[in-house]
Parts: sequence; C-alpha cells; structure tokens
Amino acid sequence: MVEIDTGKPHPARMYDWYLGGKDNYPVDEVMGRQMLTLDPRVPVMARVNRAFMHRSTRWLAEHGVRQFLDIGTGIPTEPNLHQVAQRVAPDARVVYCDNDPIVLAHAGALLRGTDEGVTEYLQADVRDPDAIIEGARKILDFGRPVALSLVALLHFVPDGDGALELVGRLLSELPAGSYLVVSHATADFTPEESAVATEKLKAAGVTLALRSREEFSRFFDGLELVEPGVEVPHRWHPELGEPVPGQDDGVIPGYGAVGRKP
Ligand SMILES: C[S@@+](CC[C@H](N)C(=O)[O-])C[C@H]1O[C@@H](n2cnc3c(N)ncnc32)[C@H](O)[C@@H]1O
Repeated sequence: MVEIDTGKPHPARMYDWYLGGKDNYPVDEVMGRQMLTLDPRVPVMARVNRAFMHRSTRWLAEHGVRQFLDIGTGIPTEPNLHQVAQRVAPDARVVYCDNDPIVLAHAGALLRGTDEGVTEYLQADVRDPDAIIEGARKILDFGRPVALSLVALLHFVPDGDGALELVGRLLSELPAGSYLVVSHATADFTPEESAVATEKLKAAGVTLALRSREEFSRFFDGLELVEPGVEVPHRWHPELGEPVPGQDDGVIPGYGAVGRKP
C-alpha cells in the first residue's frame, strides 16, 4: 500500500500540476499558484524542461546510446523518456527511479514500452546511489554506455547532501562513452523572485537548491560537453524541434547540458 502525504506539497505533484496533469492535490496547487505569482512562466518552464528531456534523449538515441538510467523521473507524462528513446531505438533499455511514492503508484504507466525494449522502475533516493546502482545493474549492462539522466532533479539536492559527490559516484560506475544529462533551475536571471520562491518552499518543507551557471557546470567536470555546452534549456539543440509557446518570453531561468565520459 503506497502512502501519499497530502499534508505538504511535493515537487513531483507540483510539476504535474504545472504540466496540466491530474495526479496532484490541493496542497500542491496552492503552492503552485504561489509560485505563479512570483513568475507566471513556471508552467512554460516545466514544458520547456520536458522538451529538453525529449530532445536530449532523442539526440542520445540517435548517437547510439541504448541504455538510460533516469533518476527523478516524475509522474508519468507522455511521451515518457522510454517512449522517446524506443521510438528511435526500439531495443533501448530504460531504468527509472524516483523517491516519491506517488511516482511508484503510477509507475505502471512507465513500463509500457516496446516488445524489444526493457523498461523498469526502482523506488529509491538519489542520495542512496549504491542501491540505485545495484538495482539498475539487473537491467542495464554497465559494461556498455549508459546515459545518466538527472533532469530537473538536482535542484532538490543541496550541497549538504553531497550533490556533486552523488553524481560522481553514479558516473564512476559507468564506462567511457556514457553520458550525463542534467537540467536545473537557477536564480541567475531572477534573483529576487527565486529567493522568495526558495523561502516559501522551505516553509512548506520543500528544499530548493538553485545553482549558478558555474555551480551547474561543476557537475560536468571531467566530462566532454556536447555542443552547445551549458545553455538555457530551450536553446539546447532547438533544431531538434518541439518549441514551447512562450519560451522566448524572456530567458527561462534554468540550465541544461549533456556531457560524455571520455
Ligand atoms: C521536477 S520533477 C522532474 C521530472 C522529470 N525528470 C522531468 O524533468 O520532466 C523532479 C522529480 O525528482 C524527484 N526527486 C526529488 N528529490 C529526489 C531524490 N532525493 N531522489 C529521487 N528522486 C527525487 C521528485 O519526486 C520528482 O518526481
């Protein structure tokens, strides 16, 4: 029996609300609306982020990657990562992972893939990388390249929880030719609104660890950045499609990048 805590907002459910989904509760909508008063483009940011995930996944599959480890998956929202990857490469193997019980409750929708491909879900916290590695190993061959996808996840993991070290630990298990994909919110473009948002979320029990461009870039130390490097997410390979209405209405306050392990 999955226990859903409806007494405080949860990032997965707020994100679902921004995306127009149905798997959220009044407490998530109330906090979501407060975020909108600070920046009415938050739903656009959510869609831009989702489109970044689609484009980066497609790019990776088109560049031969057949294995994906996606941590901080979120509530299923079509197309999910495995659908994007398996559309290019029907034999792609995908392991999803999230720590929110609501994602576990809906994980069935994540597991409907192609006959050739394999999709699996792990309930785990990114702060326990060893459990993730152990679980993912049952599905993924760590002797072949894996794309480690941390999309809109790390801004919920503060430095005090060892965000950089966690990413390093996960990457250390992956062979050369593997990739790291990260998108992340930042206060660089809207410092005042971001400070208020961070405080409001903290008061509601949600930790938001916004990072500057320089702090974001550190996740890619030792990796070869794929062109165009660190960019605001909608400018990462826009030629791969999926423009989101409103995305050019000022800079979307986030960063996205893909790096290759040499
Ligand atoms: C904003 S959503 C992003 C969903 C999806 N990756 C996307 O970008 O469309 C962030 C997700 O990270 C998950 N999350 C937050 N902290 C986590 C942690 N410590 N371990 C695993 N997942 C976490 C949340 O439950 C939520 O589903």
